[in-house]
Amino acid sequence: MNREDNELITRIGPGSAAGAVLRQYWQPAALVDELDGPRPVRPVTLLGESLVLFRDEQGRYGLVDRRCSHRGADLCYGRLENGGLRCPFHGWLFDVDGHCLEQPAEPEGSTLHERIRHRAYPCVERGGIIFAYLGEGEPPAFPDFDCFRAPDSHTFAFKGQWDCNWLQALEIGIDPAHASYLHRFFEDEDPRDSYGKQFRASAADTAIPLTQVLRDYARPEIRTEPTGYGLRIVTTRRLPQEQTHYRITNLVFPNAIAIPMSGDMTITQWHVPIDDTHCFWYSIFTSFDAPVDRAKMRAQRLERHTLPDYRPTAGRDNDWGYSPDEQATQTYTGMGMDINVHDQWAVESQGAIQDRTIEHLGRTDVAIIANRRLLRAAIQAAQQSAALPFRTPLAAPDSGPVAVDAIGGSELGEACWRALDAQRRDGAPWWAGVRA
Ligand code: FES
Ligand SMILES: [Fe+2]
Repeated sequence: MNREDNELITRIGPGSAAGAVLRQYWQPAALVDELDGPRPVRPVTLLGESLVLFRDEQGRYGLVDRRCSHRGADLCYGRLENGGLRCPFHGWLFDVDGHCLEQPAEPEGSTLHERIRHRAYPCVERGGIIFAYLGEGEPPAFPDFDCFRAPDSHTFAFKGQWDCNWLQALEIGIDPAHASYLHRFFEDEDPRDSYGKQFRASAADTAIPLTQVLRDYARPEIRTEPTGYGLRIVTTRRLPQEQTHYRITNLVFPNAIAIPMSGDMTITQWHVPIDDTHCFWYSIFTSFDAPVDRAKMRAQRLERHTLPDYRPTAGRDNDWGYSPDEQATQTYTGMGMDINVHDQWAVESQGAIQDRTIEHLGRTDVAIIANRRLLRAAIQAAQQSAALPFRTPLAAPDSGPVAVDAIGGSELGEACWRALDAQRRDGAPWWAGVRA
């Protein structure tokens, strides 16, 4: 890839080509949890724009320009009152739609406020996340994924910051080969201790820990299939006795993935640019079985993140916790048992924006190649003001998207993972209503 193309597909600020694409889809702006407390006002930097998110007295969300339209003071320090957010400098009051409701220092009868339109973006709350639409024109219909169909009791949302460009963060999620190496554990944990953790449960409904499948069958076949939301990524590993392991993961264009976490949970994860060189991952964990133990899942993740910024405690400053002893005896990375840290090291160590002019892609990078093709086609469409793909809702269950680990006879192919997905859906307490 040449330098210009790398810039084209990675930079996301206002006016950028890839930024114009990302702005045409709903993007996570904050966790609902971040607005807990007596004063629901938070600074948000999203796609290189400095914004402030607030919830007004009627419970409506506003995501507006952080600089006051009057003379640019910081609205994060605003007063939440009288139907909006009021700038403490001269009292201008803005509502969630960007209307300027009051300018109390202007002369009685002044109509200046009617001509002010403060920048504001529509927001919706779904699955524990506040999503915003930063694009031109009408937002697309909100997607109907499993993580949004399942009730609150069966989902849990969390996020974390990575210090790198969003695209390399996304690309690790559509790279099924790395799990056999980066996330290799030399010993398998008891799968019964796996709650809330990825890759630790048993593979499909066998007694084999998934960590063992990944470790012992480390040369997967990977192919992609076009879908109505992006790409389905089918990864097969041939096991002994004519058995095959299928791992079904997905690219949800333009910047999300949907993957299995364990037998009964999936992860839908967005990689959202803060600016060109920082991003947040936002995940919704969705249970097809029992209600989610939110307190436990949040506590597990807060052990390794600091609030209010959701920064990981591991990072470049402390070598991501690297220990050569551990690397020799316990894990492939030497960076502990949390696979999130492994992923974080992989993408942050690629540099602030991965230099794709020096990479060499192989067969295992098929999904990365396919996604870059989709992204470049979408950039071209956006530049020509043509319609962008994947903005139309799909029918269930393909809109799930289906994300499973399954084991079956080699002759079964797609029927194997389809059957496991159907079985899991039929067992999900919230699925009957969707199907009807
Ligand atoms: S700068 Fe905000 S009201 Fe004057
Ligand atoms: Fe990973």
